[in-house]
Amino acid sequence: MNNNTSNTKSHILQLGLWLLFFIIKTVSKCSNGCDLAFASYYVTPGSNLTYISNIFSQSIPLILKYNPQITRGDTIESGTRINVPFSCLCLNGDFLGHTFKYQTQVGDTYRKIARQVFANLTNEYWVQRVNVIEPALIPDFAFINVTVNCTCGNRHVSKDYGLFVTYPLRFGEDLWSLSTESDVPTILLERFNPETNFSAGSGLVFVPAKGKTTFQLT
Ligand SMILES: *[C@@H]1O[C@H](CO)[C@@H](O)[C@H](O)[C@H]1NC(C)=O
Ligand SMILES: *[C@@H]1O[C@H](CO)[C@@H](O)[C@H](O)[C@H]1NC(C)=O
Ligand SMILES: *[C@@H]1O[C@H](CO)[C@@H](O)[C@H](O)[C@H]1NC(C)=O
Ligand SMILES: *[C@@H]1O[C@H](CO)[C@@H](O)[C@H](O)[C@H]1NC(C)=O
Ligand SMILES: *[C@@H]1O[C@H](CO)[C@@H](O)[C@H](O)[C@H]1NC(C)=O
Repeated sequence: MNNNTSNTKSHILQLGLWLLFFIIKTVSKCSNGCDLAFASYYVTPGSNLTYISNIFSQSIPLILKYNPQITRGDTIESGTRINVPFSCLCLNGDFLGHTFKYQTQVGDTYRKIARQVFANLTNEYWVQRVNVIEPALIPDFAFINVTVNCTCGNRHVSKDYGLFVTYPLRFGEDLWSLSTESDVPTILLERFNPETNFSAGSGLVFVPAKGKTTFQLT
């Protein structure tokens, strides 16, 4: 056997090992989730705590616990955001999210559910992806899946953050306004959200929540 063939053989072996490594990595994209994440819910006129509590199946006292700014019962100011707590799970071993069961109302569409009911915490495409019902055939008062994405952190970025807010960007918001509002440096926001176009005025951003918590190793 000359040098060339043994070289080729070891190259093939190396390639095979890399391929195996890559396959294992891609097959299990997540293994653990975390007990707590927040959904940043933009409050529109007519919305109230009872409604939000129902949508997310979370008790009002629990929501209030994480939103000390709400001082008076069921009144929440429209045009503000509240942090709704939820558990962030590894779904299908594939991605981190939480699937809420939502009961459709008369006239609901996947688009309306994503944009209005869930305040852009998801989008039409993603709601449709997690349901078997054809968009044109959505029955009234049926339970459908609404999956909201989340994250528990990324130890390659920083081990100091394990609690995150799933934050739908609104028109007029950008990297700088978000950094000011969340008190998180722009560089950190960018590094936790490498795929996000902060100038698009839409889409999700994962914002580290104030108060560092222990990062959960996955
Ligand atoms: C809360 O909001 C829901 C849905 O918008 C509405 O039907 C309900 O009457 C509201 N409740 C109160 C107490 O305002
Ligand atoms: C969701 O996004 C759409 C399109 O950008 C916008 O018109 C709508 O007001 C947003 N909904 C909420 C609750 O912010
Ligand atoms: C949620 O995550 C999945 C998997 O990474 C992605 O395909 C989907 O577009 C995301 N949904 C939203 C609303 O960003
Ligand atoms: C909701 O998701 C579950 C689990 O993936 C699935 O079995 C069920 O059919 C989905 N519901 C609808 C209405 O598509
Ligand atoms: C980001 O969004 C803005 C506004 O929609 C757009 O002009 C810009 O081209 C986008 N940038 C990238 C890199 O896609």
